[in-house]
Formats: sequence, C-alpha cells, structure tokens
Amino acid sequence: MKSNISLIGFMGTGKSAIGRNIARELGYKFLDTDRYIEEFMGMTIAEIFTTMGEKSFRELENQMLKKIITKKNCVIATGGGIVLSKENRDLLKHTTFVVCLKATSKTIYYRTKRKSNRPLLGTQKPLKKINELLKQRKGLYDFGDITLYTDNFKINELTKMIIHQYN
Ligand code: S3P
Repeated sequence: MKSNISLIGFMGTGKSAIGRNIARELGYKFLDTDRYIEEFMGMTIAEIFTTMGEKSFRELENQMLKKIITKKNCVIATGGGIVLSKENRDLLKHTTFVVCLKATSKTIYYRTKRKSNRPLLGTQKPLKKINELLKQRKGLYDFGDITLYTDNFKINELTKMIIHQYN
C-alpha cells in the first residue's frame, strides 16, 4: 500500500475539502501544495502570480511537491495545474495513491465564484475561462488510481469511497 494519498483535479473539484476529511479519518497529516508554497514564500498564490508570474509559480510548485512526497502518511491536495508538468504527473503516479476528482464546468464555476483566490480565472467571464482551461488540460488528469465525480456527492460519501479503494 502506498504511504501517501494525493488528490488531483481542476480548481473547485473538492480536493482540499475531501482531502482534509480523508486525513482526519485515517489519522494522516493533511498537506496542501498551495498552502505549502504560500508559507514558504510568505505570499499568497495571487501575489506570487502577479509579482513573479506563472512560470516561477510552476517551478515553486514542482520544488514543493518533491519535498512533500518524501513524507509518509500524508494526504496531499495538489493545485489544479500541477498536472501540467510531466515530471509532477510521474512523481505523483509513482509515489502516491492518486485520487482524481472531476466536476462539470458549471459546478466548478459556482464553487470557485465564492473565493477570489484563483488568479487564473480572473474576474471577467470565469465560466468561459474554466471551459478553455479544461479543454487545454484535457487528458492530463486521467491517471488516477480512482476517479470520482464530485458534483452530486457529499464529502463524507466520497471520503468513504476513496478510503475503501485505498485499503
Ligand atoms: C491553479 C489552481 C490553484 C492554484 C493556482 C493555479 C491551476 O489551486 O494552484 O491558482 O492552474 O489550476 P486549486 O486547484 O487548489 O484552486
């Protein structure tokens, strides 16, 4: 059995909420790559994007992932764009039990609307941007040991399904 679980998926698919719940159930530590980057840099994700640009953010994301996966008994919620790098995809695939979360663009739109910390979605026409990014990233999330649609399920139900597959 792999000693870490990772959650991959587009923004707003429920990675952090479900990840936190799995960690609590299993007595694992919960880690979120975005929070890890924010703590390391002392800046928010939005600040990193504006002052350093997306390329530097992606480099940081890769560095942090390499650190995180050396740990044991962790549930790792990843940033939605972590899968853009083949190195990241391979690292996650080989060292963690990968949970891929999906949702329709409409669900993603409503879930991400409430929070303004997603620099890639901007404020103008976020639904259009979501659809564009989903199209650009087509197939990149498809390496989960388990794939679940989170639109119509409750966090507790999804947690149970994931733990059942993991054990
Ligand atoms: C991103 C997703 C975000 C965050 C950053 C970029 C992306 O994480 O890493 O804004 O490229 O999809 P969440 O998926 O946790 O929102």
